[in-house]
Amino acid sequence: EHLAGHLSTCLKGLDEALFGGIPFGVLTELVGPAGIGKTQFCLKLSFLAALPPSYGGLDGRVIYIDVESKFSSRRMIEIGMRSFPDVFNKKDMAKEMAGRILVLRPASLSEFTESLHRIKVSLLEQEVKLVIIDSMAALITGEYELGAPKQHSLGWHISFIKSIAEFARIPVVVTNQVRSRNRKEVSHYSFQGRSRSESQEYSSGYDSHLVAALGVHWAHSVTIRLVLEVKSGQRFIKLAKSPMSPPLAFPFTITPSGVSL
Ligand code: GTP
Repeated sequence: EHLAGHLSTCLKGLDEALFGGIPFGVLTELVGPAGIGKTQFCLKLSFLAALPPSYGGLDGRVIYIDVESKFSSRRMIEIGMRSFPDVFNKKDMAKEMAGRILVLRPASLSEFTESLHRIKVSLLEQEVKLVIIDSMAALITGEYELGAPKQHSLGWHISFIKSIAEFARIPVVVTNQVRSRNRKEVSHYSFQGRSRSESQEYSSGYDSHLVAALGVHWAHSVTIRLVLEVKSGQRFIKLAKSPMSPPLAFPFTITPSGVSL
């Protein structure tokens, strides 16, 4: 049994920069504007985690927290069949892989944490190899909008999500939306009593809304941060935070077979 490990993203340069892929045991965050491809990336990762090891997969189950009802089983099957045409030439086989993805749609952060709390011990025996939260910001925004009494602070939930990755020694991948980086205007806003400009936040790949919503505890809890962005019409995935790699950027496209280099 190995203590460390990686989920290959099938994006060669990115896998190399990450020494094999998305690491086990820690939180990885995908940050980017609406429509950049965060969900498409998550669908591909889910299929890869379910794949047999002979095809670079983890042969496991996946828990997919689908906060905004964006998960599409049909699209995931298409991504799988087109990425591995030799293996999944029959739709039934790709469907079987898709059957390994458990999709949850919690109405609040508390509901999500409670359900994960219940299944925490069975993550190992059920061979869950990946947890996806798409998206974290939507999960906490929903909580605040509902005005539900908060039984635990946000910090408690964040620590719990981190503990899932550590306890089950699996990758936990979380998406977060930021506003487009290409907006030229610099608007000023006040955060924690200090006046700051948006262009400053953008340069760190982060956005005032997200910082305000999730706080610095979140930013520090994330081990790997991948920023997805568009520059001159080309999509890039940038390794914005990593304990062992410099900030490299890789161009990518979204094709019928999903996120590709
Ligand atoms: P938000 O959830 O709004 O923050 O966006 P996101 O970053 O999750 O974007 P998403 O992953 O939904 O990507 C949307 C983009 O993926 C679209 O602009 C399309 O270019 C592409 N896309 C979505 N579905 C398909 C599909 O079925 N086939 C192909 N080829 N591309 C698709």
